[in-house]
Amino acid sequence: MGTATKTPATIPVAGNSVPFLGHAVPLLRDPLGFLSSLPAYGSLVKLRLGPLPVVMVCDPGLTRQVLLDDRTFDMGGPVMDRARKLVGEGLGTCPRSKHRRQRRLCQPAFHRDRMPVYGEPMAASCTAVADSWHDGQVIDVTGAMSTLVMRVVAQTMFGTSLPRVSRDLAQDFRAVAQPAFWLMVMPPVLGRLPLPANRRFRQARDGMWDTVRDIIAARRLDGGDHADLLASLLDAQDPESDPEERALSDEEVAEQVVNIFAGSDAAGPALAWALYLIATHPEIEERLHAEVDEVLAGGPLTFAHLPELKLADRVISEALRLYTPTWLGSRIVTADTDLGGYELPAKTMIGWSPYLIHRRPDLYDDPDRFDPDRWLGSRTDKEAYFPFGAGARKCIGNRFGTATAVLTLAAIASRWTLRPADDQPLRPVVKTMLAPYGLRMRVTARGREA
Ligand code: HEM
Repeated sequence: MGTATKTPATIPVAGNSVPFLGHAVPLLRDPLGFLSSLPAYGSLVKLRLGPLPVVMVCDPGLTRQVLLDDRTFDMGGPVMDRARKLVGEGLGTCPRSKHRRQRRLCQPAFHRDRMPVYGEPMAASCTAVADSWHDGQVIDVTGAMSTLVMRVVAQTMFGTSLPRVSRDLAQDFRAVAQPAFWLMVMPPVLGRLPLPANRRFRQARDGMWDTVRDIIAARRLDGGDHADLLASLLDAQDPESDPEERALSDEEVAEQVVNIFAGSDAAGPALAWALYLIATHPEIEERLHAEVDEVLAGGPLTFAHLPELKLADRVISEALRLYTPTWLGSRIVTADTDLGGYELPAKTMIGWSPYLIHRRPDLYDDPDRFDPDRWLGSRTDKEAYFPFGAGARKCIGNRFGTATAVLTLAAIASRWTLRPADDQPLRPVVKTMLAPYGLRMRVTARGREA
């Protein structure tokens, strides 16, 4: 009698695939509906994004397993290869073999103790944007918030002496970041076509790298005493590395700067979503106004107000749950492995989506409801909350990003009420980030609302 061998379970394939583009079509047409439909297939499901087969993880425990085991589930694969061509092999894109050294070198720049140093330009920039608006103005919310965040990052990264350079860099960066996702997952030939959009993309990419390299070269010559993020990166020393690798080379610093810019790009959409959610939930807006009025007491916003802005902080946490800007991440399997009872051969590309997990009704009560108070005390289990990822690759800028978002929300709420400028239904769009692209909102001075 032969021994019974267990047949490995087969991962189900999601429906709605079309030739050539695979599941990119339903993802483009109704990204959020499509992602939310995936857990019904089971804990893992197979998709095809353009030419790329992907195994999507739909379960919070397995997502955590993938994120914590970066030896088996590393940064890599065809999408990451293309990302590296754009932003280099910095902290967010390098493989595990290079990551620990880079993280040790970058970590001091993001340490909790550094936050008050960045806090002053951060609070000043957040206030400046709120001060620059006028009553009745209609703004492109995602554009305005992304520009603000880029400005805060550029100022804290390079000091305030380079406003024009920072602005050019922010512009080039945005021109690279938005189409990047589709260029990474679509057949490469599309990115090589002689189209104006492809030409603009390449120009912006080259401009961005030239600016960053020029800033670093100028800083090396200047030799002055600076207290910004760039100074931390240039001075960083890693005692655990071999002597010739203790510091970051200038090219490595450039790669980190571009990676940090790329990472920070999530904070603009997070803020845009928060503003939209407040505008569509007047009872939360009223409480937020009351909190901000009490905390600021008519004075200017400062970084020291941050711990008191508790509802503003919960609004950001809840916006990050409902509309996580970093809606899709990827990993590559480095050696044959087992995940949740399924066999995964080496080189399998894995997709993980905080959005998908955050909308599961078995994990969150009434998951589509905007309820900042679900984050009061320990009412909600943070084990199924991944806006910043988890494990060794967890977002290094989470404190920085949250602080910027909370302060901006407070600066805006202290003066303005925002409402969608028209009654077009909101159409979430996925690019590299999930953002309310195209959403226009009217700004009204508080106290002058109709
Ligand atoms: C609210 C805003 C933000 C969100 C939602 C967010 C989200 C994330 C996520 C999910 C990851 C992990 C990706 C993965 O594991 O595949 C990540 C990594 C990263 N983020 Fe953020 N991020 C935010 C703000 C920022 C800011 C403000 C910065 C910099 C100033 C930043 C810099 C980075 C960097 C450098 C990494 C790579 C870390 C590593 O691999 O060691 N992020 N971010």
